[in-house]
Amino acid sequence: MDATECLMGIRLMPVLALREEATALRLAHILKDVGFQALEITLRTPQALGILETLTRALPELTIGAGSLRTPTQITQAKAAGAQFLVAPGHTETLLAAAQAERMPFVPGAATGSEMLRLLEAGYELQKFFPAETLGGAPALRSFSAPLPEVRFFPTGGINSERLPAYLALEAVALVGGSWFVSDAALRAGDEEALAAAAAQAWSLAHG
Ligand code: 3PG
Repeated sequence: MDATECLMGIRLMPVLALREEATALRLAHILKDVGFQALEITLRTPQALGILETLTRALPELTIGAGSLRTPTQITQAKAAGAQFLVAPGHTETLLAAAQAERMPFVPGAATGSEMLRLLEAGYELQKFFPAETLGGAPALRSFSAPLPEVRFFPTGGINSERLPAYLALEAVALVGGSWFVSDAALRAGDEEALAAAAAQAWSLAHG
């Protein structure tokens, strides 16, 4: 299922790789308090599914999804953990079929015009563009969107506060994702003030 409706109104998605449940909970509260309405928990750590489940239970007011999906089993597990949407760095027929079978809003990834067309044919107007900066950034997206006006993009990968405005200025960009405003050092140190300040700055930039 296309995820356009599920992610409507979201401008900036924190994309998080987390290892520690208590830290994840504190971070999610900080992000919610500065205004974020959605979070993506990437399945890149052994703890990610457990953290996803904890957060979806503790913060039902947030739209929380699972990212970095690679297998149909992860789709089933993410759904069981309460994920409301799914994101993958690319797509395969197997993954598209599994997300469809689970009736989960899914943002599959595309990096070329052919991949974008294939996803459009499969009914996915909202597509992840990854790794955005390596693929040419906002200028590349502008070029892709000229012949593909139906596609809405969710670019992630290497985006930071300097680069964010150029993406959000594009009509083809529905939302942007990134991790630049969640510093590992601040997370490890439990520096909630620094985490809140960086998150608030990113949120304001995306909504200003
Ligand atoms: C992703 O999985 O979407 C990216 O890793 C997020 O990109 P970033 O960490 O470079 O912001």
